[in-house]
Amino acid sequence: MSATTGSFSIDSTTVEMPVKTGSIGPAVVDIGKLYAKTGMFTYDPGFTSTASCESEITYIDGDEGVLLYRGYPIAQIAEGGDFLETCYLLLYGELPTPTQKRDFDYRITRHTMIHEQMARFFQGFRRDAHPMAVMVASVGALSAFYHDSTDISDPRQRMIASMRLIAKMPTLAAMAYKYTIGQPFVYPKNDLDYASNFLRMCFAVPTEEFKVRPTLSRALDKIFILHADHEQNASTSTVRLAGSSGANPFACIAAGVACLWGPAHGGANEAALKMLTEIGSVDNIPKFIARAKDKNDPFRLMGFGHRVYKNYDPRAKIMQETCHEVLNELGVKDDPLLAVAIELERIALSDPYFIEKKLYPNIDFYSGITLKAMGFPVSMFTVLFAVARTSGWIAQWKEMIEDPGQKIGRPRQLYTGAPLRDYVPLDKR
Ligand code: SDX
Repeated sequence: MSATTGSFSIDSTTVEMPVKTGSIGPAVVDIGKLYAKTGMFTYDPGFTSTASCESEITYIDGDEGVLLYRGYPIAQIAEGGDFLETCYLLLYGELPTPTQKRDFDYRITRHTMIHEQMARFFQGFRRDAHPMAVMVASVGALSAFYHDSTDISDPRQRMIASMRLIAKMPTLAAMAYKYTIGQPFVYPKNDLDYASNFLRMCFAVPTEEFKVRPTLSRALDKIFILHADHEQNASTSTVRLAGSSGANPFACIAAGVACLWGPAHGGANEAALKMLTEIGSVDNIPKFIARAKDKNDPFRLMGFGHRVYKNYDPRAKIMQETCHEVLNELGVKDDPLLAVAIELERIALSDPYFIEKKLYPNIDFYSGITLKAMGFPVSMFTVLFAVARTSGWIAQWKEMIEDPGQKIGRPRQLYTGAPLRDYVPLDKR
């Protein structure tokens, strides 16, 4: 990383600040000394122009619609790899050798069971609890069971906790789903791959043998790859900030699950499917497009737009292809939601409003249709996102913990409240 300097002048003060250049992408101005030198903070509430850290994990070129995991294009990984290989790549920085892959798969597979006592934890929830509420609670509760992997200063414990989280998220997610539909929990099976194991834990019933459909498990594995990591998005930044205080990794991932739930973030796949259902037919699209453009209407096209992508989200293209594969495999012809989605995309992408604001479909636009066709209820869509994103969250958490310059995150503010004033006793007000 090379460094030059930039200068910042205000009134009669000029401040020199280092400019750091990464391997690819925008350079950064290191403003760490700005307050000490000027008595001023920078102000960027949505972090639209702020880099919070240095990272080697994922790179996005929003203008070109490029997404790289450790330098490898997402399309090549989705085509040639599998989700556990992606987890290895994000965690260790390199593609595994065949031996490393076999060992990693073996270790993850043998951490998929959860402590039997945790199964009783679910009984405290109402059956109609949103699965994301169950996930926030149960992921955090893992720290009550795995005290032998919460010492973040120990590299071995950090790796064990990372493996446990990647391995146990599908089990907890499937249990959250089974609990809401009143069916018995299904234990993981060690002779199944990650996605097949998850499908079986979600859809198997004790009364018959569950047959995994390879096209569906491969599609789900690809969906997990697409959702694995995405630079410093809101939930990853939440995990990093929680981790910067020294909180244990289970608690940090629970914080990430909570943040992902929002409809502007991971909850958008659930919101997008609800929107497509509300639109209902192609004839209604113009009315919704008009609402999305109306400044006075809070309605937005869910699954459209992105803080970084000002071009097509490369994941959305692969998601659309996967959607067609799944619908074909399931013999779903003329899915009305897909027809609405394709026509909505066509109209929106030719509309000046969306063109000027560079609003394109994002990963959440087609994922909901695919997951619904696979049999998942809408309330499980963001849960699947959380299962996949745990690999990115934990890789980013580990990178932060291992950064020698790491310190607790503590932003400042622009104070606009009341100036100093004296307290007035109650009987004087
Ligand atoms: C994810 O960060 C990540 O990487 C996230 C993610 C990941 O993998 O981690 O990619 C996953 O969260 C994808 C995004 C899912 N969210 C949605 O699909 C919800 C709908 N999208 C919007 O809420 C919005 O596009 C955001 C939240 C995604 C981005 O918001 P920004 O960057 O803060 O942009 P903005 O709200 O300032 O919008 C810029 C303009 C505004 O108009 P003006 O005020 O400039 O006139 O575009 C308009 C917005 O009104 N706009 C939309 C729109 N999104 C933005 N108008 C209609 N429909 C939309 N979807």
